[in-house]
Amino acid sequence: ANDTRIAAISSAIRVIPDFPKPGILFHDITTLLLDTKAFKDTIDLFVERYRDKNISVVAGIEARGFIFGPPIALAIGAKFVPMRKPKKLPGEVISEEYSLEYGKDVMEMHVGAVEAGERALIVDDLIATGGTLCAAIRLLGKRVGVHVVECACVVELPELKGRDRLGDKPLFVLVN
Ligand code: PRP
Repeated sequence: ANDTRIAAISSAIRVIPDFPKPGILFHDITTLLLDTKAFKDTIDLFVERYRDKNISVVAGIEARGFIFGPPIALAIGAKFVPMRKPKKLPGEVISEEYSLEYGKDVMEMHVGAVEAGERALIVDDLIATGGTLCAAIRLLGKRVGVHVVECACVVELPELKGRDRLGDKPLFVLVN
């Protein structure tokens, strides 16, 4: 059942205190990637949810959205678009600035990768303050006119209330 799969996924994620800075409890998904069953179950749970939702694009957020996004995109027959840190993409880009749990950053996406009216799923490993997903929603939704169907993360840190920053956009998470 789903609960058994989710319990195994949750215990495969390693939690490391004070990384990358004192006071931050880092959720390390690299240990989930070592567990072949838990990693496959993670992808399967997302695919089961999104396969019949008419999604044409999976937008993955650097860096760990690049691990979970592409297998989901392939399985549901959607294209994959990377949302990157600044100055990484070679083509013409549109950018959005955002604030992080620890610092500030800019997110960029290639112009022409997605068109207005397309239906997108945004994928990342984790939501903390929600600033990152919020920037991705602005880039796709406000700037390009894409319909963001949902945001999907493996882990949510509910005490940071990132979910509340996503406005009317639904958030689906496996573990919190
Ligand atoms: C982490 C995580 C999310 C973001 C969530 O990325 O993978 O992308 O923070 O935080 P927020 O909800 O407070 O915005 P990180 O900043 O570690 O960047 P990286 O993936 O490039 O290492």
